[in-house]
Amino acid sequence: MSDNLANPDHKAGNSASSSAISSQIPSTNILSKAYIMKIDSSSVAFITGGAAGIGLGIAQAFAKRGAKLMLADIDQSTLDAAAETLRADGADVATVVCDVADEAQMRAAAQATIDRFGKVHIVVNNAGVALGGMTGEIDLKDWRWIVDINLMGVAHGVEIFTPLIKSHGEGGHIINTASLAGHIAGPGMAPYHATKFAVVGYSEAMQQELAPADIGVSVLCPAWVKTNIHRSGFNKPTGGGNEEDPQFQEMSKVIDGGLDPADLGEWTATCVEDNRLYIFSHPEFGAGIDMRYAAVKADYDAVPFGK
Ligand SMILES: NC(=O)c1ccc[n+]([C@@H]2O[C@H](COP(=O)([O-])OP(=O)(O)OC[C@H]3O[C@@H](n4cnc5c(N)ncnc54)[C@H](O)[C@@H]3O)[C@@H](O)[C@H]2O)c1
Repeated sequence: MSDNLANPDHKAGNSASSSAISSQIPSTNILSKAYIMKIDSSSVAFITGGAAGIGLGIAQAFAKRGAKLMLADIDQSTLDAAAETLRADGADVATVVCDVADEAQMRAAAQATIDRFGKVHIVVNNAGVALGGMTGEIDLKDWRWIVDINLMGVAHGVEIFTPLIKSHGEGGHIINTASLAGHIAGPGMAPYHATKFAVVGYSEAMQQELAPADIGVSVLCPAWVKTNIHRSGFNKPTGGGNEEDPQFQEMSKVIDGGLDPADLGEWTATCVEDNRLYIFSHPEFGAGIDMRYAAVKADYDAVPFGK
């Protein structure tokens, strides 16, 4: 048990005064390396969206290290194909069909994981969808759809699995898939940015809360990865979208030129074993991060009070 993040002032009560707020900011390094998850044959990992793309890339990297896997996905046929491929390489894999947006299905998936493997150490809340559209033109049914999957899907995984990881006392790690779009926003995908910024903030808070229980937290923030993410919007409640759409074709080119999910899976496993909070993928976007923080800092420094 590590007390690396213990802050004597942490229980600051409900006062909204600035001193109460500042006392909740960790005074120690939040990237403490006190607890490190080693991924090996004693590890059990639960991965949502594990049938394809980034989830499958992570599954492959974990399997290479000997971990036992429970793959969860909404799509039965890709799930079956993924499990077959992993088993052919010698992995111990089970599957469960589940919609991460549905609390009851996620509870059933957690139970299935315990029934099959007895315990769980690593949870990868990775399933997600994309939604394009301009502000003022987005149907609220589509908004709820993306929030239910990209944010509540992560919340379901975290809230349901955290007690299960804590219960065995062996420690663990939670990885939430956000995106570089959780750090830098642009036009045309505001609901996607909103969910991904939320997952980044959630993960930062979780890391501070769960470190004392020896549960590491990472937030995966890749830029373009060669997957089917650009097709996910076809499933939104209001439907629409097709492969002939010029915007879709533009996005296709970018995604198809993206990182190999297997390489991202390897890098993710390395970062988990380094207890890294942020897992980025594309160094060329560093300038965008700097620009965002420069804009935040400029407006922060413009505050006239207390000067
Ligand atoms: N591909 C990229 O460029 C990129 C970049 C940054 C972040 N991401 C994020 O990575 C994550 C994985 O996406 P991907 O790129 O591998 O896309 P993908 O569409 O190839 O894979 C997503 C998987 O999640 C499953 N899924 C979708 N909705 C689900 C639900 N409600 N419940 C359970 N499973 C569901 C799909 O069936 C699919 O197998 C997403 O959260 C996405 O936002 C992707």
